[in-house]
Amino acid sequence: MAQPTGSERMERIVALAKRRGFVFPASDIYGGINGFWDYGPLGVQLKNNLRDAWWRDMVECPPLGPDGSPLSIVGIDSSIIQNPRAWEASGHVGGFSDPMVDCRETKARFRADHLHVLRPKRELEAPVYFAYLEGEPDPAVRTARKAMRGRPSVDDFDSLPLSELDESDRAHVWAPGASEAGTLTESRDFNLMFKTFVGAASGEENTAYLRPETAQGIFLNYKGVLDTSRVRLPFGIAQIGKAFRNEVTPRNYIFRTREFEQMEMEWFCHPSEAKIWFEFWTQSRMDWWSGLGLAGDRLRLRRHEASELAHYAQTGEGTFDVEYQYPFTEPDYGELEGVAHRGSFDLEQHQEWSGVKLETFDPETRERFVPHVIEPAAGLTRGVLALLCEAYSVDESRPSSELMRFPHRLAPIHAGVFPLVNKGGMPEIAESLYLELRRRYRIQYDAKQSIGKRYARMDEAGTPYCFTVDGQTVEDRSVTVRDRDTGAQERLSIDAVPRYLDERLSL
Ligand code: GAP
Repeated sequence: MAQPTGSERMERIVALAKRRGFVFPASDIYGGINGFWDYGPLGVQLKNNLRDAWWRDMVECPPLGPDGSPLSIVGIDSSIIQNPRAWEASGHVGGFSDPMVDCRETKARFRADHLHVLRPKRELEAPVYFAYLEGEPDPAVRTARKAMRGRPSVDDFDSLPLSELDESDRAHVWAPGASEAGTLTESRDFNLMFKTFVGAASGEENTAYLRPETAQGIFLNYKGVLDTSRVRLPFGIAQIGKAFRNEVTPRNYIFRTREFEQMEMEWFCHPSEAKIWFEFWTQSRMDWWSGLGLAGDRLRLRRHEASELAHYAQTGEGTFDVEYQYPFTEPDYGELEGVAHRGSFDLEQHQEWSGVKLETFDPETRERFVPHVIEPAAGLTRGVLALLCEAYSVDESRPSSELMRFPHRLAPIHAGVFPLVNKGGMPEIAESLYLELRRRYRIQYDAKQSIGKRYARMDEAGTPYCFTVDGQTVEDRSVTVRDRDTGAQERLSIDAVPRYLDERLSL
């Protein structure tokens, strides 16, 4: 069946996610707050499942290394607020910024590097440009129709990044939503860290920052972990948690938000081995995401251009992104995870700013050195978005017409258990099956509405199996099982249900 693509697909996913309690706009009853989202009952379970899968496959049972030997990775959970000097040392106070332009008329603020302009293909007496946010040219075309004679379509324009215009051309740019040209300010740097005050006083000396990445908490605990656990180079420290960035233009649903979650691992190794580990982790992370079902053409690896590299990744090896083709980036791709070669940048910086030695001594070679770091940094909430996009599927032959094909391991609900009707001994049998299965699996018991509506709800929740207790169950202790992906039903003995799930849910 033909599947919706692009903006139509995205709109349907957002609507289903809201309707079924995956993702809600934060503060919805107050009209929302731009860049913040809440996770409902199904959404938090999906997010926790992805989080747990990462922790399991990174910390509890990491992949085998390039030579087949087990790797050593330990976890931590550091504070969101740290000593502000840590953010000066890390380069975030000085360098963690995006270029920003304001519209003097509408007061809207834009990431300068996200703004593009439409330029008429035909020669005009005076230059004119219509600015739009990358990937969303329609409002600019509408503005152009008001501002120009004729009824131009998007094909009548060339598109180019705002940054390619000369200074003199800026006066001729219509900002998104503006009623005249020339209202965009110069581009200036805007620091993305959220500031807050620690304690009762609100002076500059009490200023602290909400962490913009979980990684720095790992570097700050590097010595503590090394001194207290048995890990020795090469080894990793992993952390999952919230990060905050005051993004200039949060957009594309939960892709770019101001509060989000990261899953980051810093792999500390000898500088001479860093290249091997960089290649190893790049491939390993790509394999992990494809193992979760984000396989095929929608997942790819891309090396960063030199101009994209973060301040810590200037080591010559650079950064690889694992990218996914989200509906709003089609036919292009957007970042899901970055694997960066951070060199010794962070440990050297913290060593210098704190005065605490973070170098390592190798007793065999009698060498002192600051380890190099390879960092696979994934977005947990962005991962949830990729899973929602990948799982969404339309099947008009079903009552729900929409279903979520989550991989078994990540499905918020593994199985539904229903009595066909609420009488004749059926609820009692169904309840006892539910109580037995929920000890091992995520099970939902549902006795309300018609059986068709219950199946439809489970399809939309992405539940792989539904077991229904009916009149025949009372006679011969057999139940029906319905498969989410095929919609097919078969009968099996109620006693065989646990094994049925054991065999199919490859957890
Ligand atoms: N420690 C390195 C670091 O933070 P990053 O590429 O800025 O690198 C890592 O972030 C991952 O965090 C990204 O690949 C993305 O999945 C996620 N991420 C970054 N900014 C985000 C935002 N504003 N909203 C949602 N996820 C974000």
